[in-house]
Amino acid sequence: MKDKNKAVWGARFNKATSEIFEKIGASIDVDKRLFEEDILGSIIHAQMLVKQKIINKKRGNRIILGLKKIENEIKKNKFIFNKKYEDIHLNIEKRLYTIIGADAGYLHIARSRNDQVITDFKLWIKKASKKIVKNLNSLIKSFLKKSEGNIKTIMPGLTHLKNAQPISFAHYLLAYIEMFKRDKKRFISNINYIDECPLGVCALAGTSYKIDRNFTSKKLGFKKPTNNSIDTVSDRDFALDFLSSASICAMHISRLAEELIIWNSDAFRLIKFDDKMLTGSSIMPQKKNPDPVELIRGRAGKNFGSLQAMLTTMKGLPLSYYKDMQEDKALVFHSYDTLLGSIIITNEIIRTLKPNKERMLSLSDEGYTTATDFADYLVKNNNLSFREAYKISAKLVNYAEKKKKKLSQLDFKEVKKVKNDLDKNVMKVFDVRHSVDSKSSYGGTATKNIKKMILKLKKEFK
Ligand code: ARG
Repeated sequence: MKDKNKAVWGARFNKATSEIFEKIGASIDVDKRLFEEDILGSIIHAQMLVKQKIINKKRGNRIILGLKKIENEIKKNKFIFNKKYEDIHLNIEKRLYTIIGADAGYLHIARSRNDQVITDFKLWIKKASKKIVKNLNSLIKSFLKKSEGNIKTIMPGLTHLKNAQPISFAHYLLAYIEMFKRDKKRFISNINYIDECPLGVCALAGTSYKIDRNFTSKKLGFKKPTNNSIDTVSDRDFALDFLSSASICAMHISRLAEELIIWNSDAFRLIKFDDKMLTGSSIMPQKKNPDPVELIRGRAGKNFGSLQAMLTTMKGLPLSYYKDMQEDKALVFHSYDTLLGSIIITNEIIRTLKPNKERMLSLSDEGYTTATDFADYLVKNNNLSFREAYKISAKLVNYAEKKKKKLSQLDFKEVKKVKNDLDKNVMKVFDVRHSVDSKSSYGGTATKNIKKMILKLKKEFK
């Protein structure tokens, strides 16, 4: 076998890798996404080798120049990725040889692909987490804007998918803001966990060269170098953290999607999607289907799958590097692409969504949604225990049901049938607007609460 076709580790091999393994084993199609991080890591590593006088300055500069040239080539789509060289690290190293010659061979002093790949990957996940956070911010802003326009939009709040109590549509939207704020926190705290630099732990044991890990760590934007070389090459917790945060965020989006699908159904008719967010049927001319929302509901499965796959890969894996872990990149990239796409679609859906305000209001008064308000009234004004008041209110609901009337359609005389010493002002409790505004406890749906919360959030998300 000719030397130039050999793998960089080919010195002890008499045969080339089997073609079939080359196909499966090569990760270049996936990990080429790490090229910027890989080149940055190599440049900083070379600078450190020079600073520590492990290689001379001239050589170091030549290496760095070559690396920058490669980065340029990749960015301009002029770089030819070759499966023969397995992954991004070796593709770049091979190319460096053709550009600067034998000096390229000095770059891999005091490092291994094992620490190299995690350094790249951690840098990439940091960048990806920041991008997700940025997109969550803009999603939250869209929710905020929609809530602002819907403070007075009343809808039925549901439990068990049955009408429960009237709420403001804005309050419902603000609930999702809380969920996405938690998602943001998870991604941000992951960045903190990730913030230890692997570079310099080499294959698993560290190195005998007098390297400066603090230098590389700082230059690459990490807080500090990792503590234990074995743990460092074995650790993929940071990938799991990302996948788990992505899964939880995708789960939130899928809950939202499911609700929107239900509300858009012909049975509910609570909201309308923009035509841009609908698709037609190939057979039924009348149809407008909410495909994009269904897609983001379904895509959560891909995020969960990646997390499950990664956990399964790591389970029972002995410490230090094993090829099993190479699949981590595909899973994380896949989960990232999926989630980012879902967040972007969700943003568009929320921005263009229109509530059917009349329908929301009328449905909020169906299903005796103010029965609890009546019970609360009796506790406050008629000196009853809640359990006694509950029974009386239930009686009124039974009566209204028999008469096929809403609670708000009953007259004072009818209400007095269940308790005769009532004041006329009891009648206000059957009004859904009154109901909403009475829920003024902190975090409740009252208009004044919502207004305050929106103001607070607007300051937070300028
Ligand atoms: N492409 C490899 C991966 O992503 C890089 C590390 C290779 N190390 C090794 N000992 N084969 O896991």
